[in-house]
Amino acid sequence: MCGICGFVGTGNIKEILLKDLYQLEYRGYDSSGMAIRNNHKISVFKSVGEISYLDKQLKNIEIGGSCGIAHTRWATHGKATLENCHPHLSNNGKWAIVHNGIIENYLSIKNMLLAKGYKFLSQTDTEVVVNLIQDNDNVSPIRAVISATKKLQGSFALAIMNSERDVIYLAKRTSPLYVAKTSNGYKISSDISTFFGCSNSCFILQDDQYAMVTSKSATFFNQNGEKIKPIECDVKSSSLDNMTIKEPHYMLKEIKDIPMALSSTYRHIMSTIDEDKIRKFCKGIKKVCIIGCGTAYHAGLVGANYLEKVGLHTDCYVASEFRYANHKIDKQTLYIFVSQSGETADTLACAQYVRDKKCKSIAITNVVHSSINKIVNIVFPTTAGKEIAVASTKAYNCQCLAFYILACIMKKIKYQAKCEKLIKDYSIPKFDNSLVSAIKNSEKVFFVGRDWDVVTCNEASLKLKEITYINCMAIAGGELKHGTLALVDDKTLVIVICTREHIADKIANCIHEIKSRRGKVILFTTLDFDFGEVDKIIKLKSYKNDFDPITTIIPLQQLAYYTSVDLGYNPDKPRNLAKSVTVE
Ligand code: G6P
Repeated sequence: MCGICGFVGTGNIKEILLKDLYQLEYRGYDSSGMAIRNNHKISVFKSVGEISYLDKQLKNIEIGGSCGIAHTRWATHGKATLENCHPHLSNNGKWAIVHNGIIENYLSIKNMLLAKGYKFLSQTDTEVVVNLIQDNDNVSPIRAVISATKKLQGSFALAIMNSERDVIYLAKRTSPLYVAKTSNGYKISSDISTFFGCSNSCFILQDDQYAMVTSKSATFFNQNGEKIKPIECDVKSSSLDNMTIKEPHYMLKEIKDIPMALSSTYRHIMSTIDEDKIRKFCKGIKKVCIIGCGTAYHAGLVGANYLEKVGLHTDCYVASEFRYANHKIDKQTLYIFVSQSGETADTLACAQYVRDKKCKSIAITNVVHSSINKIVNIVFPTTAGKEIAVASTKAYNCQCLAFYILACIMKKIKYQAKCEKLIKDYSIPKFDNSLVSAIKNSEKVFFVGRDWDVVTCNEASLKLKEITYINCMAIAGGELKHGTLALVDDKTLVIVICTREHIADKIANCIHEIKSRRGKVILFTTLDFDFGEVDKIIKLKSYKNDFDPITTIIPLQQLAYYTSVDLGYNPDKPRNLAKSVTVE
């Protein structure tokens, strides 16, 4: 969803910005660019596509200067073209801007500026903002930034430069923005991880706060232009955050990280969570409502199963739907927000809504200083380590485990021995490559399961479509005959998942129905049950039901990964997607 960074200080500014851009590339890779101030002039460099293209373009160019801002884009307004690539300059060339977010009222502002004679080279909302700053430039630069951005509706993290001085001006609403002092100046970024190794602490901008950053200082302001004391936090990386990898892709590394990530999450929860406090907090709760997006939503569905199992009525919603559905929010419901990044705009908006209604909330997140953690009452952490590949893997497994532990804690059920056994016993299975050919030789792919295996089917289907672009879908076994069976023929592959003993015979019926229509069946199961004729069985280790959703998905994550690689795609950077969706 776009990443922004900047630096003021001494050193090779081009290299510093490029290094940080690579760290932020998970936020979007449609285009990238940087603006650097040198000799009272701002020079802009841009490239469409991944950061490596910009890197190549700048290889033999000497760029001096000691103040610059940079951007990696996930296109929202306007196609992924060079004109739409950030940074954008104001008409008079004095101001440069990079932006993460969406300006909702940009069209009315654009029309107002057009009427005044401003010209626009791009279709972006961002170019409107930089010209609005120029239009307000009759006071000090920070005041010009404040008065212009006060007129904006929507979300933004903005880094702005002015050709007259080595200063970066910052403005923030909803989208994240951080500032850190380093040994040779100041850095700004959308993500704390760009500060790893060069700073031990950083400042977090809050909504409608501003900053003026020079090589020597960072000064923070409120909307009235009054100086304020910023919130400071530690910059810590975990042992799982190692960015240098042996594997060809981050996604493969992250799948291999799963056992370690599960162990780390379990031990971290054990050592940081006060169980009595959680139970006291949950006293009087009659219902649980889980909210998330994408893979985190699927983890929420697994969580709902765990919570229902311990006797808590639980609903689970996609955040973007919950947000506008006018659900009754009540004080006897516990709201659990699940988000790897803790920055997803729709999930954040729901959390804010629940907080405004003064209802109880918990966040299951993987990023300590994420925005959502500051909104909810209690943070229930996962410590999966940094996830770089856009398609989430290890975070999902850890979110499911966190839900299991939370459900047990809420009902005072012992969970330690089972978790210890999982951590001790589990190892990533060897991948069976023949599965890739089965997928490639099919025209259609369906995933079929029942009970909580349907959630695994949904997550497996999401993984496959995200990184292989194969049109596939997941269906509850009982629903097969209510429509989807019409699509089954000899070019159809149905991946069936069954870990639930009490409905194994029902799944066997589904398999008969598919085989009678000449569909191919690959069965993933933990059970010793006679399912009848199938094309292939992948036997999985069982964890006596409790942890089956956590482990059964792993070979299916592998399946998506190896198919993507076989098809010649980069599984880490699927087209049109981004890791962190900080816009609505
Ligand atoms: C994006 C990512 C998904 C992720 C979803 C929710 O769509 O590509 O992998 O599941 O956002 O992200 P969150 O950080 O809230 O878990």
